[in-house]
Amino acid sequence: MQDSPVTAASLVAKKRLGEKIVMLTAYDATFAALFDKCAVDVLLIGDSLGMVVQGHPNTLPVKLEHVIYHTAAVSRVARHAHIVADLPFMSYQVSPEQAVASAGRLVQEGGAHAVKLEGGLEVAPQVARIAAAGIPVMGHIGLTPQSVHRMGGFRVQGKDPNSARRLLEDARALADAGCYSLVLEGIPAELAREITATLSIPTIGIGAGVGCDGQVLVCYDLLGMNPDFRPKFVKAYAQLHEQITAAVGAFCVEVRAGSFPAEEHSFHGDLRVVKGAGETIHGRAR
Ligand code: KIV
Repeated sequence: MQDSPVTAASLVAKKRLGEKIVMLTAYDATFAALFDKCAVDVLLIGDSLGMVVQGHPNTLPVKLEHVIYHTAAVSRVARHAHIVADLPFMSYQVSPEQAVASAGRLVQEGGAHAVKLEGGLEVAPQVARIAAAGIPVMGHIGLTPQSVHRMGGFRVQGKDPNSARRLLEDARALADAGCYSLVLEGIPAELAREITATLSIPTIGIGAGVGCDGQVLVCYDLLGMNPDFRPKFVKAYAQLHEQITAAVGAFCVEVRAGSFPAEEHSFHGDLRVVKGAGETIHGRAR
C-alpha cells in the first residue's frame, strides 16, 4: 500500500527531512497510472509535450487548452502523486491577472494540484498573485525553454559569475514571492548546490547536478524512446525504442503473412442463431 497523497506541503517537508524528490513528466493516463504505481512523487504535465507529443521543435506553440487536456488525462488516474501542470508560453507573461486566470483553469478543468511557470524576478508578481489565490506555484529558472530565442538555443545558463549571481537572485525572488518549489534546469552543478543551500523550498534539478533536493526527467527520455536525442543530462534507464521497433516490426510481418490473428485471438459464433448481437471483449461490447 502507498503512503498518503503527495502535497505541496509534504514536498517542502521532504527537504527538511533530507528526502529526495522524484519528479517525472506524464502526458497521458496509461503512463501516468504506471508512474503513479511506482510511487513517483510528482507528475509534471510539462509543456515539453509540444516537442515529444506534438512534434514541434520547441515548446512555444503549446496552448493552455493543450496542457489542460493532458492534465485532465493524468489527474483522472493518479492516486498518489502531486500533479503539476505547466503554464505554457504567453498564458501568464502578460499580467498577474492573466496568470491567475490561466492557473485557475489548469486546476479547475485539468485537476492540477499546482502550476509551474518559467522566469525569475520578472514573474514574481505573477507568482504572488497565483499563490494568493491558493494555488501552489513551482518556479523554473536556468535553461528556460520558453526563452529559447533569447538564449539563442537550448544552452546551459549561469556559467559566468554575473549570470550565476542573477540566477541566485532570481531564486530568492521566486521563493520570497511564494513559490513552494523550484526547477533548476541546465545550470552548473556548483550553482545549483548553492541555490539549494540558500533556499528553504525544495529545488528539483534537470541537468543541474546531484546537489538539488530532487530530480526530474522527461519520461520519454528516461525510457529511451528516441535514440537520436541523448543530451549529456539524460540517463536512459531503458531502450524502449528497440522493443517498440521490434514489436511493431513483428506485427507488420505477421499481418502481411496472414499469421495474425491466430485462432486464440478470434471469436466464433453460431451465425444461424446469433445475428448482429455483439460479443463481450474485456467487458466492452463490440
Ligand atoms: O516541460 C517540461 O517537461 C519541463 C521539465 C523538463 C522540467 O519543464
